[in-house]
Amino acid sequence: MTDKPFKIAIAGLGTVGAGVAQLLNMNHDHIKQRCGRQVLLNAVSARSKNKDRGFGIEKFQWFDNPLQMVTLDVDLIVELIGGADGVAYDLVKAALQNKKQVVTANKALIATHGEELAEIAESNGVNLMFDAAVAGGVPILHGLRDGVCANKVSSFMALLNGTCNFILTTMAATGRSFEDVLKEAQDKGYAEADPSTDVDGFDTAHKLAILATIGFGIKPDLDHMYVEGIRDIKADDLSNAAVLNRNIKLVGMAKYHKGKVVQYVYPALLPVSHPLADVPGNKSAVLVTGDYVGDLLFLGAGAGQNPTASSVVSDIMYVARGEKSLPFNIPVQNLSDSLPTEILEREGAYYLHIVVAANADIEKGVLPEIETILSEHDISLEELVRAGPAGASGQDLCFTTSSTQEQVFLNLLEKIREIAEVISIRFIRME
Ligand code: HSE
Repeated sequence: MTDKPFKIAIAGLGTVGAGVAQLLNMNHDHIKQRCGRQVLLNAVSARSKNKDRGFGIEKFQWFDNPLQMVTLDVDLIVELIGGADGVAYDLVKAALQNKKQVVTANKALIATHGEELAEIAESNGVNLMFDAAVAGGVPILHGLRDGVCANKVSSFMALLNGTCNFILTTMAATGRSFEDVLKEAQDKGYAEADPSTDVDGFDTAHKLAILATIGFGIKPDLDHMYVEGIRDIKADDLSNAAVLNRNIKLVGMAKYHKGKVVQYVYPALLPVSHPLADVPGNKSAVLVTGDYVGDLLFLGAGAGQNPTASSVVSDIMYVARGEKSLPFNIPVQNLSDSLPTEILEREGAYYLHIVVAANADIEKGVLPEIETILSEHDISLEELVRAGPAGASGQDLCFTTSSTQEQVFLNLLEKIREIAEVISIRFIRME
């Protein structure tokens, strides 16, 4: 135990920042005991000084401009402002350049500028920690760094966005609309300031890029991922999935395919027996496969104030204890280039929802025609979920296919679209 406190400053006192300040206060003695020294919050900066946060900020030095904190007499700066660029980027870069330790929960920042920032951290001999950036309270990066590092990782399959998982789980259980459930996720503090980041898959992409960098030693590169969100998932997709004994989840996947690492984010139908299929509500989960350990499932609260604060403070304690690690667990100069993910090379099965004209004869007309086209593409119809009934706007024809390459599947769709009675087609990938 040393008498010298470990001094920190926090930039950003939103949901997570306030949670971190409260946790440092509530568990003060416990944290001191585990670190062998006191962890002292000295300085704070946020957009509004007078906002009610449930605790007083009078005892901390206040800064309107967080950049002024990088020359303070503190050991570590916590960046909880958010955003890939702007003040968050300037602050983290300046802090590392000033040889300050840095902890951040900012996935967009690390996914976008991680390589550059890690290089500065390494050359200045300081930590840049970001466990809270991936899966909130789940200590996945510590798990990968310390627990799985002996393994060559062959794949990640993960549910990385609490908001999307909450929306899909709640829609499936209640039949409520997408907009209604999104509003509830925002009220609960899961969603990003701009929920498009969540529902269009970008938040998952940021987190997956970080996992892929640590797991496969490739440079984070968002442009090389395929990203699709959950905005177009309808309540009847979820009920049809249930008929197939499947759930729909927004999955992030990184794995080897034809000798390179591919990175996908898309909604997928998972069999209920799959380890990720039943992950509830706002939970996040990462299924990692290593060559010696096999499959490991990391599961827990992936968003929200307390779980995310738990990860941030654990990173702070890691540094306060005097531990040191490389940001990506591999020297940044040894990271290899990531290669573009070609979705057209994806191989797997598909769920199709085709709307056909109300007066069409599905059984004797449309379906046999579709089956002929399927066989011309070496694809078979696996399970017929729904055919009809006729409504004013058309009939539903929903089925699953055998596994094929996405390019072949898209060729198939073009042919199905040529059938006169077909009004519209949408599809969801299956895993
Ligand atoms: N908006 C994010 C989510 C917060 O829903 O998972 C945690 O990163």
